[in-house]
Amino acid sequence: MQPSLVLAFKPPISVIEESGDRVVIQVPRVKGNIPQYTFPIEPVSPGLLTALRVLAAEGATEEELSDRVLQMDGFPQLPAFYYYLQQFINLGMLCHTLLSEGLPLATRVPIYPSQKFDWKEVAIDQKYRLSRFAYCHQYEGNFVLESPLSHAKIILADWQGAALIAALAQPQTCQELCHKIPGIAPETIQQFLSLLLSTEMLSEVQGDGKIGEETNKAMVSWEFHDLLFHARSRKGRHNNPSGKTFRFLDQLEQPPMVKPEVSEDIIKLYKPDLQKLQEEDYSFTWVLEERQSIRTYSDKPITDKQLGEFLYRSARNKRIVDKDYGQCTHRPYANSGGRYELEIYVIVNTCEHLAAGIYHYCPQEHHLGRLTERNSLVDALLEEAYFATNQFSMPQVLLVFAARFQRLAWVYESAAYSLILKDVGSLQQTMYLVSTAMNLAPCAVGCGNSDLFAAAVGTDYYAETSVGEFILGSRLGN
Ligand SMILES: Cc1cc2nc3c(=O)[nH]c(=O)nc-3n(C[C@H](O)[C@H](O)[C@H](O)COP(=O)(O)O)c2cc1C
Repeated sequence: MQPSLVLAFKPPISVIEESGDRVVIQVPRVKGNIPQYTFPIEPVSPGLLTALRVLAAEGATEEELSDRVLQMDGFPQLPAFYYYLQQFINLGMLCHTLLSEGLPLATRVPIYPSQKFDWKEVAIDQKYRLSRFAYCHQYEGNFVLESPLSHAKIILADWQGAALIAALAQPQTCQELCHKIPGIAPETIQQFLSLLLSTEMLSEVQGDGKIGEETNKAMVSWEFHDLLFHARSRKGRHNNPSGKTFRFLDQLEQPPMVKPEVSEDIIKLYKPDLQKLQEEDYSFTWVLEERQSIRTYSDKPITDKQLGEFLYRSARNKRIVDKDYGQCTHRPYANSGGRYELEIYVIVNTCEHLAAGIYHYCPQEHHLGRLTERNSLVDALLEEAYFATNQFSMPQVLLVFAARFQRLAWVYESAAYSLILKDVGSLQQTMYLVSTAMNLAPCAVGCGNSDLFAAAVGTDYYAETSVGEFILGSRLGN
């Protein structure tokens, strides 16, 4: 049975009455790459026009709307009304609101167009449980239930909806919920559960006490944060603005291309002769074939000269380019939009002519700025990398990549953080190839401690902290 949900256009969809018998339903442009959508209806009958006006205003149930069409246009116009209604639902243009005692309890808002809304009725004596991917948060003043499994979100109007959601963390039948959360009619609770079930927030509890997502082999491996990040940073399951939207253009100053010097204690680095390297270097194929992760080192530490050459060949600024939205650069590794948000911090354990401690690499000047000498935080960072690389040898040098997040978020929306992680991969691969060509021992590190890094370097965790690591040392036999 289809419930008596109130249907209304999703704001800010509007109905433009262009002439007596032509209307255009206008779906405004979402900033980014989802185009403006217009839906013309011509000829529009008086009853259909009234129904459209109601959908654009306070909304009404499907029954109320069809009654109006029937009264004003007569029976022959009803199929046209149902045809358009189904089109609006399929295009994600309609919100469905469930009322309790005449007041909104929950509103289903589609977040991605072209999705059908198949109503699934819950069984009165069947147990249901909330998906582990469903989550509530405050958004634009509303308490919203969302899930990366769903193409819609649910706005919870008040405490009753929130209380029902909280109870559904455990398996519940409609009857059990009626006892737990008094004051809501049993049929409303049934409709509320049906709304959640039809929006992939809820599942039927099976005989073994599990819900579908717990027995589906493809889904069990997904962690909550990973699936949410995947679904929201890629296109297709949301209609949030995505890509280069420059959302902070008039609000925030973008961080500069080169991070201002962090220290007055500057150490100039060796620059290799690129011309000579081009003549004498290993072949590209040799480097590719020889590249491997090496986690043990010779007793002789890496030298400051090797470190200088390595950083020059992997990460220096080659040239600056002025784009219409600010300065970008070119470096040996590719990077999202030429924004180069990654800062390299060199954590030295042992390096010839370079004291242990933390240094910041300036890619523009190709020098190091000394930040701190060896201390307990430096040791903790080195130990983290040592344990992450199976405790073969203490790293001679640990390179920590810290992202100046706003440098990318200033340009990109929805995908900024995922792009940062891809940039880490690009830098790591370049470093692997350069260190192989230099007979050094390289190894990427997968998991670092961003809080520890921010404390060691003194950055604001939300403005700049570590997103990737790489260890380097002198190769055995050298
Ligand atoms: C993103 C990434 C993270 C990695 N994290 C680690 C790590 O934390 N510890 C480690 O010992 N090796 C790590 N590695 C190195 C891989 O284990 C290594 O590349 C893989 O086993 C293939 O071996 P190869 O590099 O010698 O060809 C990482 C590699 C990549 C690309």
